[in-house]
Amino acid sequence: MRRKPSHSDSDNIASRYSRLVDFTQSPRKLSIMARIIIAGSCLLAVVLLFARYSSSQQTTKLRTVAVLKDQGGGSGVWGTIHLEQDISQPNGQPSSPVHIYGDINGLKSTGVHAFHIHKFGDITNGCQSAGDHWNPRAHEHGAPEDVVRHDGDLGNINADRSGKAQIDLRDNILTLVGPQSIIGRSVVVHEKADDLGRGGTADSKKTGSAGGRLACGVIGWLKE
Ligand code: CU
Ligand code: ZN
Repeated sequence: MRRKPSHSDSDNIASRYSRLVDFTQSPRKLSIMARIIIAGSCLLAVVLLFARYSSSQQTTKLRTVAVLKDQGGGSGVWGTIHLEQDISQPNGQPSSPVHIYGDINGLKSTGVHAFHIHKFGDITNGCQSAGDHWNPRAHEHGAPEDVVRHDGDLGNINADRSGKAQIDLRDNILTLVGPQSIIGRSVVVHEKADDLGRGGTADSKKTGSAGGRLACGVIGWLKE
């Protein structure tokens, strides 16, 4: 049979409990150092939360991808190119260059190959129907660092001994937003080097004399 709790038992429990409460809840027993550490931690937490909140409110990243294939041309060249850009919110304006990265494989040998954005995302007739270089400002062909260039002029990529070219570049002219967005257009890799408009011929000022189209792919939204 259980004994009924007596007054003295409950007094005992109460006094033990109050000691515990006194110990844990009395701020007077916290040293000055402990108070500084707690206050500092709280302040840091607030600052970090605010920074995270404000950065997530100010920019979003647009992510697109182009899967390159020879589209029946028979070169056997293929690759994946990602194109990304930060956009400020709420105004929707770009706040970074377009970051273009990925790799192209199956290039025949070590060498230099022209790399462009072309006007159309149309591969109904292989890479030929992708049209000319993307050129909304009606400029002549040039190098990526030139003031006068097609928007789509991204210069050359270099294949290593295994026929692979790794790409990681940032471009300040191209954009993924607005009327000049390159979404729905295409990425093209050429047979030859781009002479960057310095070849001294009419073709050099139009195409960089880059020769045939080894592979191309349409720029589309990346799956989230
Ligand atoms: Cu091209
Ligand atoms: Zn061009």
